[in-house]
Amino acid sequence: MFKRPKVTIVGAGATGSATAHRIAAMGLGDVVLLDVVPGIPQGRALDLQQAAPLEGFDARITGTNDYADTAGSDVVVITAGSPRKPGMTREDLLRVNYAIVKSVTENIVRYSPDCYLIVLTNPLDVMTYVAYKESGFDASKVMGQSGILDSARFRTFLALELGVALEDTSAIVLGGHGDAMLPLPRYASVGGVPVEQLLSSDAILKIVERTRNGGGEIVNLLKTGSASYAPGAAVAEMVEAIVRNKKRVLPVAAYLNGEYGHTDVYAGVPVVLGGNGVEKVIELELTTVEKEEFGKSIQVIKTNIYMLYGGEDAGERVC
Ligand code: LAC
Repeated sequence: MFKRPKVTIVGAGATGSATAHRIAAMGLGDVVLLDVVPGIPQGRALDLQQAAPLEGFDARITGTNDYADTAGSDVVVITAGSPRKPGMTREDLLRVNYAIVKSVTENIVRYSPDCYLIVLTNPLDVMTYVAYKESGFDASKVMGQSGILDSARFRTFLALELGVALEDTSAIVLGGHGDAMLPLPRYASVGGVPVEQLLSSDAILKIVERTRNGGGEIVNLLKTGSASYAPGAAVAEMVEAIVRNKKRVLPVAAYLNGEYGHTDVYAGVPVVLGGNGVEKVIELELTTVEKEEFGKSIQVIKTNIYMLYGGEDAGERVC
């Protein structure tokens, strides 16, 4: 018998709801929206379900507070966590969100032992590592969403600066989803033309800085809450690559086991994403400066991982 993919989204806040909407509208599967607050996921799910006849999608959308309803999920997206507040770095969220992601992962794995896990909770790379550790899954099945979002921001600012179609832009951002992320102008192009031939280095630098601060700019505008539409669309692209076995080449937070010279850490790198999850990590050639910056970004992630799980430079254990 054929069965529709089942996609669970944990966290029915703005990001979880935007993600559910995009996944349902793209026809990627039936959607279960789970949240700890009674009524919220049920209300959101009902609202979304009623959009279906108008928008022309057929997904069944369930809202629940009970992990039993997530049983047998093919893909699970973890958005649950405390959002970033103005002035707060993603790393400040570490202590609060560790406990949340650990507990969510344990509950999910109990009911869906064969699922793919996509993490969206910040600090992204560290929380993805937490989901990997606590799930006991193979690293190919656990990944974080950040690179597609950061690259989409880079692409957006390039298109706006050049006055060209957004869809014709191509860009890649490596490293952690934090202030030390590494947008790579050398690998950015518009309709195949390298951006370095189209924009001055000053203009590119400004775009790189705005990309790095892309999430923070929105947090500062909203005051309460963070970006939701673009993160939701980025997750849906990953879910599509997996359930349709597309073998997309996308930047995702993936487990590094020697690639780029780093081990036992999650960070944003280009991968082949398909029906087996992260099927391959692609190693880009980096300049000495880029390698250094990538290394700095990895160090921030590792310091946080050590704080949670111990290890060199751990300092004081917080959990
Ligand atoms: C952002 C948050 C969600 O980058 O990390 O918008």
